[in-house]
Amino acid sequence: MPTQQVVSHPANAAMFLVFTVDDGEDAAGAARDFLGELPGLTRSVGFRHPEAELLSIVGIGSDLWDRMFPDQPRPAHLHPFVEVRGATHTAVSTPGDLLIHLRAARQDLCFELARVVTDALRGTATIVDEVHGFRYFDERDLLGFVDGTENPEGDDALDAAVIADGDGEDASFVGGSYVIVQKYLHDMAAWNALSTEEQEKAIGRTKLDDLELDDEHKPSNSHVALNDIDGDIIRENMPFGSLSGDGEFGTYFIGYAKDPSVTEEMLRNMFIGVPEGNHDRILDFSTAVTGSLFFVPSPAFLDGLGD
Ligand code: HEM
Repeated sequence: MPTQQVVSHPANAAMFLVFTVDDGEDAAGAARDFLGELPGLTRSVGFRHPEAELLSIVGIGSDLWDRMFPDQPRPAHLHPFVEVRGATHTAVSTPGDLLIHLRAARQDLCFELARVVTDALRGTATIVDEVHGFRYFDERDLLGFVDGTENPEGDDALDAAVIADGDGEDASFVGGSYVIVQKYLHDMAAWNALSTEEQEKAIGRTKLDDLELDDEHKPSNSHVALNDIDGDIIRENMPFGSLSGDGEFGTYFIGYAKDPSVTEEMLRNMFIGVPEGNHDRILDFSTAVTGSLFFVPSPAFLDGLGD
C-alpha cells in the first residue's frame, strides 16, 4: 500500500509537514481517526497518476501516542527527541505530534495530498513546520554534493529501517519504524568561500564524481567519517529553499531506523564529536532549527484503525 512504505527510491518531490495536535480528548480522538483515513486519502490522490508513485508516511510523537493509545503497548524506543548539545553546535528539540512525509515524481501530487491532509486535520491540529523539497540535479544537496549514495539497499535497507519478527522489544510493532527529522539551514556565503578541496574534506567525498576519500585524505571531522558507524539508517533528505530577503537554503534531514538509537549515536558523533570537541565540519555551515522523533506504525496498524 502507498502508505507507510519507508524504503523507496529517491523521489523528485517531497513535502514534510509537522503538526501539533490541540489539547483535549476530542482532538486526540480525531487525530486517531485521521490515521485510519490516511491510506484512503492517499489512494484518492495517487490513483489519478499511478506512474508518479505518490507515497505517504505518518509518524506519531511520543506525547500524542500516549494520548491516543493510553491503554495499549507503546513502541519501546518512542520518546521526545533528546537535544544534543555540543561545545559549539546544538541539535535542538522542537515540538511535533504528527509528521506527514509525502513523496512523488510530481510536486502537484504532494501538494494536493498535503492540502487534503491539512483539511482533514483542520480544527484538530496546527502545522508548525512545512517544507517543500525538490530534487536538485543528480540527487545533490544545496551544498552541491550528491546525498544518499551510501544508503543501504534491498534487504539491507529493510533490515535497517523496518522492525521485523524477532526484534524483541518491539514484537507488537512489526512492520513499523522510527523516524528523526531535522531542518538544517546552510550558510551558503561561508560554504562558497571554501575551496572545492576544503568542501570535499568537510563531507569526506569528492564533489563532482561523488567518490569517498581514502582514509589518508578523509579528516576525522568529516561528515562521512563521523557517520560511518556500526549500524545503518535510511536517509531521504531533500533540499528546500526560498530566495526572498536574505534567502533560505536548506537540507531537510529525515532518517528512518528500526531503532532510533542508531540515528542518535550519529547525532552525538556529529554534535559532540569524536573525540569530544571534534564535531562534524558540516555543522559549521549548517544550523539545525528543528528536531523531532516519531514512531511510524505499520500499514496493518493503520488499516486496523480504519476498520
Ligand atoms: C545538513 C544536513 C546534512 C547534509 C547536507 C548531509 C549530506 C550528506 C552527504 C553529501 C553524504 C555523502 C553521500 C551519502 O552517502 O549520502 C552524507 C552521508 C551520510 N550522512 Fe548525511 N547529511 C546531513 C545530515 C545528516 C545527519 C543529521 C545524519 C545522521 C543523524 C546523517 C547521516 C549520514 C550517514 C549515515 C551517511 C553515510 C556515511 C557513510 O558513508 O557510511 N547525515 N550526508
